[in-house]
Amino acid sequence: MEVNFKDASPEKIKTDLLALPVNEKELAHPVVRQLDRLLKGKLAERIKKGNFTGAEGSTLLYGTAGMLPAAHLLLLGMGKGNEQDIDSWRKAAAQAKREAAGVGAEEIAFFVPPQGEPEVMAGAITEGALLASYQFNKYRSEKKPSRELRFLTLFRPGFRRSAAMDRSVRLALSLTPGVFLARDLVNEPPSVTTARYLGEQARSSCRGRGLSVEVWGKKKIQAMNLTGLLAVNRGSVEEPRFILIRYQPARAKKKVALVGKGITFDSGGLSLKTAKSMETMKLDMAGGAAIIGAMSRLPELCPEIEVTGYIPTTDNLPSGSAQKPGDIIRYLNGKTIEVLNTDAEGRLILADGLALAAKGKPDCIIDLATLTGACMVALGTEVAGIFGNHQPLMDHLIRCGREAGEKLWQLPLVKSYREEIKSSVADMKNIGGSYGGAITAALILQEFVGDIPWAHLDIAGPAFGEKEMPTCPKGGTGFGVRTLLRFLSSY
Ligand code: BES
Ligand code: MN
Ligand code: ZN
Repeated sequence: MEVNFKDASPEKIKTDLLALPVNEKELAHPVVRQLDRLLKGKLAERIKKGNFTGAEGSTLLYGTAGMLPAAHLLLLGMGKGNEQDIDSWRKAAAQAKREAAGVGAEEIAFFVPPQGEPEVMAGAITEGALLASYQFNKYRSEKKPSRELRFLTLFRPGFRRSAAMDRSVRLALSLTPGVFLARDLVNEPPSVTTARYLGEQARSSCRGRGLSVEVWGKKKIQAMNLTGLLAVNRGSVEEPRFILIRYQPARAKKKVALVGKGITFDSGGLSLKTAKSMETMKLDMAGGAAIIGAMSRLPELCPEIEVTGYIPTTDNLPSGSAQKPGDIIRYLNGKTIEVLNTDAEGRLILADGLALAAKGKPDCIIDLATLTGACMVALGTEVAGIFGNHQPLMDHLIRCGREAGEKLWQLPLVKSYREEIKSSVADMKNIGGSYGGAITAALILQEFVGDIPWAHLDIAGPAFGEKEMPTCPKGGTGFGVRTLLRFLSSY
């Protein structure tokens, strides 16, 4: 998709689809009125007939039949002016892209209203249009025809292109393939996305200047003492993998470690899940997928920091050789965990990843994991929980998330809840009591990062969409990729 900027007015612009955002109950806006005059009052008629008020998410498509240089006019309901944020623009552009596909338009001219920061809006509109084009069709015998959007023109009278605007559009263009890669990895069936496959995909997609991938097999994992990963893998016939992705630019002032949960399918192990709660458990490697997706874009974004991705990966299955409730794991940092529930497996493998990452003494560690159902209970399906031991790091990530349209909400690491994870035989057990499950999980992770600034993102809710969204079909969302890349470009 090519993005252009134009100084033009809506009644003059020649395009397949003219997208005009309108605020709720502000349809008497001069721009709308002027277009209506040129359309001989037909637009006002349609607005009235369709009861179109400009409510958020509503649209009105009008074929101009040669009465305007634009073939179609699309009014995009933006809701009340005071309720809009950056993400409203992303969603509006995504809707415009969908409507464009419906009428076979290859070009959208999007009116960028004068209020607001133009460079932020330009980036969000570009991103929304791009994200909406994702489809996962390879297992359908009848593919939905997909019309690619070839041109996006951002315009208004007096519109000036700036370096900042170019930068934010370029960022949007370079993030998207990383998001799509993460979505693909999650959407593939769990018998395709095995630990070995994830390793191969990391290898083939993380190439380019400064980027290298190492994939450890079972022998190396044993030699490195990654005991949590080995314990979870005991129930599986598939070998585990430990994926290391390194980005080492020539001049690097700082060092960031990313750790991702890579459970390719979570049955719960011997603490077996119900059939219903297993339905979506191919999503359980979404943290790892986000890291692969994000890091695959680093050679293009070339931030001047060193980044290392650590992804422990296996499936979690029951079998005669599976780990049992009551088993104890001794970790490479000396700590021990009593496994009382084999379904709390994410923390068991993340402990390896975090301990190894901490040994490298990075300036910060960020982990992403579809860790707890409890976090979904607390925050729902659109918001990730963020925990950590370093407030400025969390604040920075939350800010990047807000810009990216990926909501992060901080939850507390309540010290006194450590009582909940005390074990009668080991340093800790892998589950807490009935309440605050997202917090007790995070407290276990904290035991493995030492005093390195660390943030933990529990993405169990937003990693997977059970209903269609404007910027994403059902399934893997690629949540985290855009926040991470914004973070890495500004750390
Ligand atoms: N992968 C799940 C968490 C999850 C649940 C992610 C739903 C996405 C949607 C995790 O491994 C798990 O099973 N957690 C348990 C922990 C419990 C046994 C302490 C949970 O949340 O029920
Ligand atoms: Mn589990
Ligand atoms: Zn899990």
